[in-house]
Amino acid sequence: MVSTVSSPYSYKATLEAAHKITWRIEDIIGGDKRLDFSKPFMPDSLAGVESIPCLNGAEKLVLNHIRGNSYLYLFGVVEEFIVPLVLEHVQRIGTEDIVATQAFLCFAEEEGKHINLFRRFEEEFQAGFGSPCGVIGPAKTIADAILQHSSLGIALVVLQIEWMTQHHYLDSIQPQQELDPQFCSLLKHHWLEEAQHAKLDTLMVETMVRDLNDAEIQQGIADYFAIGNFIHNGLMAQVQLDIEALQQATGRLFTESEKQEIQTAQEKSYRWTFLGSGMVHPNFVKMLRSLDPTAADRVAEMVYAMS
Ligand SMILES: [Fe+2]
Ligand SMILES: [Fe+2]
Repeated sequence: MVSTVSSPYSYKATLEAAHKITWRIEDIIGGDKRLDFSKPFMPDSLAGVESIPCLNGAEKLVLNHIRGNSYLYLFGVVEEFIVPLVLEHVQRIGTEDIVATQAFLCFAEEEGKHINLFRRFEEEFQAGFGSPCGVIGPAKTIADAILQHSSLGIALVVLQIEWMTQHHYLDSIQPQQELDPQFCSLLKHHWLEEAQHAKLDTLMVETMVRDLNDAEIQQGIADYFAIGNFIHNGLMAQVQLDIEALQQATGRLFTESEKQEIQTAQEKSYRWTFLGSGMVHPNFVKMLRSLDPTAADRVAEMVYAMS
């Protein structure tokens, strides 16, 4: 039997907070708000390029930009499975608690805006970068594969990802690095709305769990791990595409040992940026532990193995 603790969040407060946030995509990108390719886009804690010995400064900057592009794309993919999850939840809860329904509809609408936001940044990137960057996909195929799992499994993955964006924003405002202001603005504005989503995800999981028996909850947890493994495999494939993009952008053909060096550093970085930095978030850990302490221990061991 699970011992889900009730979170302190309310639909009313979350909806009110969401209504106070009024940024539009054109406030963040477009017109004179251009990406500055002379600066890194991603904090190095999320791009993991500075520690690669075989790359010079200019090549590290190019790889940082490639990571910026894959970040935009991969978050676009994530949003594509969040929207159907949230809309399915709206159908599940109906209109009995109309404020809850409003809060989730607002959540879905914001994710639609985020899909647009990430696509606009991708357009700016492609206009300024100068050579192609391959990405895994297609996005819909990835999202559809994830959506085959149980709602609880998907909701746990989404909860982890949405708390993870807080770490991404906080890393972008570390004083030791001067990043492109537009990219920092993207991470900040995304987090402003994700802060509400992460609370709504928590309430969503609590609501789902109330109607599930122990076996169904265990299936949800198994699905959470299965989706995590699927995402991990996709990230490892993305590393290979990034190395190809780096060779093409710099005109440098790496030796096998140099490729291995880049691959090792980037695999570690992708694991941390898209999985680990969410798996350690205390609010995610708290939820998972309330559902199944063994699962929380397993996640902690996986994070330890990443470092
Ligand atoms: Fe989002
Ligand atoms: Fe979100």
